[in-house]
Amino acid sequence: MDALKSDIAQYIDEIKAISPANPEELENFRIKYLGTKGLVKSLFGRMKDVAKEDKKEAGQLLNSLKQTAEAHYEQYAHLKEQSDNGAQTIDLSLPAKPFPIGSRHPLKIVENKVVSIFEKLGFEVAEGPEIEDDWHNFTSLNMPEDHTARDMQDTFYIHTNPDWILRTHTSSVQARVLESKGQPPVRVICPGRVYRNETISARAHCFFHQCEGLYIDENVSFADLKQTLYHFVTEMFGAKTKIRFRPSYFPFTEPSAEMDISCTVCGGSGCSLCKHTGWVEILGCGMVHPNLLRNFNIDPEKYTGFAFGMGVERMTQIKYQVNDLRLYSQNDLRFLRQFVSHS
Ligand code: PHE
Repeated sequence: MDALKSDIAQYIDEIKAISPANPEELENFRIKYLGTKGLVKSLFGRMKDVAKEDKKEAGQLLNSLKQTAEAHYEQYAHLKEQSDNGAQTIDLSLPAKPFPIGSRHPLKIVENKVVSIFEKLGFEVAEGPEIEDDWHNFTSLNMPEDHTARDMQDTFYIHTNPDWILRTHTSSVQARVLESKGQPPVRVICPGRVYRNETISARAHCFFHQCEGLYIDENVSFADLKQTLYHFVTEMFGAKTKIRFRPSYFPFTEPSAEMDISCTVCGGSGCSLCKHTGWVEILGCGMVHPNLLRNFNIDPEKYTGFAFGMGVERMTQIKYQVNDLRLYSQNDLRFLRQFVSHS
């Protein structure tokens, strides 16, 4: 009887020290202590060897062992429920839950397309800061302080330092490239956001996006500029697209031009996009001004180059016929979900 007593006390301690951590461990516990061939059952089997006068006490002790084991099992029963529930709710034949993926912003789709066309021609992407200084945005680009052309670009100034502005074009990045690269050949495409102090309307915004390009090397001519831009236009808008150049003025290029393409909507017969002219203006361009080359210690007798700059919003408007610039920055998902990127 004494041996049985001390065995029971020992098993009670042993049981209390067990803490199953998953359904499998819980089941092992049940089999070991409460199963048909378990410990509790086998100890009850020893009752027949207990003296008559001790049977009552032994029975009570065995029952308390059994209760301890059962209570301990109950304490961890939630482990079992968890696995049962899990088994019930997973139906492997159900279709997968939809996993919504976002779509690219239309401006980014168009910018990527522009960039990839020029990358295939050997242009490298260059980026720069949106907060610029006067030198990179204006002065180095042949627009000295009193230059009237500065009025063409209504500038946001940063009040803490009059030398700092929000860049008005990504030509500032070209200035930075020339500054850091040193000598030609240079072939870069500069996408990015620019700012101008304009009243927001369907046709104007205080920020928009540009892609500007710069190519400087020996023997670069206006014919190279035309051929490069013609290639770009046919890749971007289709092989049938025509181009035309109109003389224009930019302080950083001489000669300068604006380039139109034949209207992609009506093909030239006249519609609202081309304002019934058959032509749509898409970019400004020209041969890099010798003064600009000198500002970066590049010899204008040896090197020539061309530059061009286009508005990404304008390209997107032509490609997707979006007529209100404000839509691009209103974050309206009904608008944004309509554009599918193939790249
Ligand atoms: N920087 C000009 C603009 O923002 C565009 C341009 C770039 C024109 C390069 C000519 C050459 O309007």
